[in-house]
Amino acid sequence: MTAKIAIIGGTGVYDPNILSDISEEKIDTPFGGVRVKTGRYKGKKVAFMARHGEDHSVPPHLVNYRANIYGLRMLGVKNILATAAVGSLNMGMGPGHFVFMDQFLDFTKSRHQTFVENGVVHLDMTEPYCPRLRGVLRDAADKQGLRHHTAGTYVCAEGPRFETPAEIRMFRQLGGDLVGMTSVPEVVLAREAEICYATIAMVTNFGAGISRTRLYHQEVVDIMAENAQNLRGLVMETIEGLDLDAPCQCQEPAQDPGAVK
Ligand code: HPA
Repeated sequence: MTAKIAIIGGTGVYDPNILSDISEEKIDTPFGGVRVKTGRYKGKKVAFMARHGEDHSVPPHLVNYRANIYGLRMLGVKNILATAAVGSLNMGMGPGHFVFMDQFLDFTKSRHQTFVENGVVHLDMTEPYCPRLRGVLRDAADKQGLRHHTAGTYVCAEGPRFETPAEIRMFRQLGGDLVGMTSVPEVVLAREAEICYATIAMVTNFGAGISRTRLYHQEVVDIMAENAQNLRGLVMETIEGLDLDAPCQCQEPAQDPGAVK
């Protein structure tokens, strides 16, 4: 089956329960196999992939981001909505808020960041997160009456441990609003694959040291569960409002015509 839109479900989002006629397939890519569910919502074909596996067994630094994005591209996907649980560094972005971030700072250490293994590609990253998809998310969140922010800078930490308070202070000083462990290289690979990509970041906690209590993964999971209904409503409204075939700058050839071959 083909689909023009995919949801990549992060922590707390493992189940494409808004879809009907669901079937599952395994796609073999040059980077490994991936499992994708496909189904329908309001007549649109939608793919769903659980980033950490359906049993949350794959930690952020071991996710096979290249296989995931390559597999979605093989399915014909042109638009990706990714969900992400995030910590907040910004007192105005509290637990339960949605953020449609527009920038990232990359503090990952051990991840493949490109599909290109022969030759050199310097990919433009002026607008890593698709402004068109972010606009549809904003309209959908307005309609649903959800607390949301239309921009923000996401710091991608390597994990899987949470950050130290000193790291959180540094990230704040550098201009970060949110911290998570998965958006890089996912967004970078989507850009390289010429797929429109936006993240629905959901704040689950304040970063270490801002929050005075210790941080447990269960807290993140609990807040995601409390907000699951809001997230589902937002995703449904967004899919409904999205023109799956709209032309977009993200889908123009990513490679610099003057790139070194
Ligand atoms: N740090 C990193 N990743 C996260 C956090 C955090 O505080 N909360 C949810 N994901």
